[in-house]
Amino acid sequence: MRVIVCENYEEMSKAGARIFAAHVLLYPEAVLGLATGSTPVGLYRELCRMCKAGEIDFSGITTFNLDEYYPISPENPQSYRYFMNENLFDHVNIDKSRTHVPSGMATDPAAECAGYDRQIRAAGGIDLQLLGIGLNGHIGFNEPDGILTTGTHVTALTESTIEANSRFFDSREEVPTRALTMGMETILHARKIVLLANGTAKHPAVKQLLDNTITTHMPATLLKVHPDVTLICDREAYEG
Ligand code: GLP
Repeated sequence: MRVIVCENYEEMSKAGARIFAAHVLLYPEAVLGLATGSTPVGLYRELCRMCKAGEIDFSGITTFNLDEYYPISPENPQSYRYFMNENLFDHVNIDKSRTHVPSGMATDPAAECAGYDRQIRAAGGIDLQLLGIGLNGHIGFNEPDGILTTGTHVTALTESTIEANSRFFDSREEVPTRALTMGMETILHARKIVLLANGTAKHPAVKQLLDNTITTHMPATLLKVHPDVTLICDREAYEG
């Protein structure tokens, strides 16, 4: 795993955005894997700025997001579809029909998940995947457990994730208790992975990511088997 330590959130966001911009420049028809949460907001802001300045072109780009709450409507401001529109898709020249987020409204969520993996395969797989990391080491919504599911699947959120994500909702009761998420196999099939982490709260997770152990109780550690992962973090996440 390559590690880039930045001085602060702004620098981390710009370093990540440069990698995504370079990829979009080199491969105008690339398939990008995207993430939500507070961490990638600065990176998306920078990509929007570059696109507006005419430096990058998203017209041929396809995207697949990692996850979505279930059930949730795309019109709900807390849905990940809404987040992506607000933070990236509405501000760049991407063809919205090429942007994919698992549907939080699917009547048959298992079929939605199987279909999502088929769509990723049909698009040729993910070239560059952006990731954040949960306080408990979750990736997407792959929560710590003794056994993890390989492909995209329906999952129950842990109490710690519901608690952590309740800051975005009016009350804790409004946080959906389930989600649709790419599995660790789907994620590990991406050709390149960029993982962002900032702030002291993420230090324990980053520390475990950089030691020499792998455990499904900390799903991010599975990334250690991938040959092309770049961790970009700020000094707080790196040093604690
Ligand atoms: C969320 C998302 C993850 C994200 C993580 C960290 O629950 N499902 O994809 O990486 O938690 O969120 P944040 O960036 O807000 O710390």
